[in-house]
Amino acid sequence: MTEQMGVAVLGATGSIGSSALDVLRLHRGQYKVVSLTGWKRISALKRLLSEFTPAQIAAEPESGSVVETNVLEGCEGSCYLGGEAGLVAAATHPDVDTVIAGVSGAAGLQSTLAAVEAGKRVLIANKEPLVMCGQLLRDAASGSGACLMPIDSEHNAIFQCLPLELQRDVTSGRGIGSRSAGAGVSQITLTASGGPFLRTSAAEISNATPAQALAHPTWNMGPKISVDSATLMNKGLELIEACSLFGLDESQIDIIIHPQSVLHSMVGFNDGSLIGQMGNPDMRIPISYGLGYPDRVSSGIATMDLAEIGQLDFERPDLERFPSLILAREAAKSGRSVPIALNAANEIAVEAFLDRRIAFGEIPEVVDRILQNHKPSEASDLEQAVDIDLEVRALASEMIRRGLSS
Ligand SMILES: NC(=O)c1ccc[n+]([C@@H]2O[C@H](COP(=O)([O-])OP(=O)(O)OC[C@H]3O[C@@H](n4cnc5c(N)ncnc54)[C@H](OP(=O)(O)O)[C@@H]3O)[C@@H](O)[C@H]2O)c1
Repeated sequence: MTEQMGVAVLGATGSIGSSALDVLRLHRGQYKVVSLTGWKRISALKRLLSEFTPAQIAAEPESGSVVETNVLEGCEGSCYLGGEAGLVAAATHPDVDTVIAGVSGAAGLQSTLAAVEAGKRVLIANKEPLVMCGQLLRDAASGSGACLMPIDSEHNAIFQCLPLELQRDVTSGRGIGSRSAGAGVSQITLTASGGPFLRTSAAEISNATPAQALAHPTWNMGPKISVDSATLMNKGLELIEACSLFGLDESQIDIIIHPQSVLHSMVGFNDGSLIGQMGNPDMRIPISYGLGYPDRVSSGIATMDLAEIGQLDFERPDLERFPSLILAREAAKSGRSVPIALNAANEIAVEAFLDRRIAFGEIPEVVDRILQNHKPSEASDLEQAVDIDLEVRALASEMIRRGLSS
């Protein structure tokens, strides 16, 4: 019998986490869930604990006493550690071979970096750490021998379209920047569904409600990424993620709207070929690809029926109605601390929108104002990155508290 591979699922109570656990349920003989983390959804974590009996779990520190009295009851084999330290312990547990990074936002940065530094195979869905500290993560992978595997659907699609030697450059952290021309890669095209407001007027978009923004037409995701998909900041973050992960310049990355969300992204080659990856819009496909790589394991999702889809549409994004794309491209161009500032301001603005403290149209306004006043600085280590992140969060929160008109 082959040995089971130990897996950590960070963000197990979320959308990526539950897709990952669905795939792992299909392959119980092959994978063993060693650690699981949630944050606030403690009853969901409790259900997962009874089902998977992991060795290590983590959740928000305030829930510690509830976890100890309620969740751990009857699970003597499981060890609990709260907060950031718990996430890091889950990611670096000695029995873990593969980490699925599915925490939402910058909160996943330290555990993702710890997993990479510990030399794990890291399946990265959580794009914000790559937006903030791509070079740091890649350098850490080069140093530790970790394997970086993108499972954000677009980046996974690009990875699937690359020749084997460039795939190795990605997984080892070298990036493909210096070798892409030699391999004939001329550009990358990220596809975007366009979100729920693709055909909505600018005036209606600016006053959209949280319920409207969360109603994504093709993907079922957590609240933060759903709002980012509605502003198209998600595609902006993915542009920076692609630059970071693949070591490419922003000018090499194009974005097109593709409402059906079945062509997940493409790589353009210098002979005019464009190679893309297609599949039903379901995260279990890139997750199972990352788990099985270089083999393929079943995801539980059927191959799509193109005749049923009938038609695939493509168009350029409207930068006037979706200014977040311009902001993200400028941040990618500027580099240094600017992507960290963009991400922090966006996270604070999205949270404020979901709490109904600002209007939907004010999300890019908060980000824009923060970037206009941000002085780019070096952000080459974790401490610098965390300081900049915290500083910008405080500024953006204060800006929102005072009101954008003041
Ligand atoms: N969902 C998708 O289809 C999709 C596709 C591509 C990429 N991604 C990326 O994957 C990441 C996760 O997205 P998602 O949609 O799965 O989000 P989600 O459904 O909101 O889940 C987020 C997970 O992170 C946990 N969490 C929240 N705040 C935390 C904190 N401060 N510290 C530690 N854990 C925390 C949550 O725990 P509780 O729920 O227990 O509070 C939950 O387990 C994001 O970076 C997103 O951009 C998602």
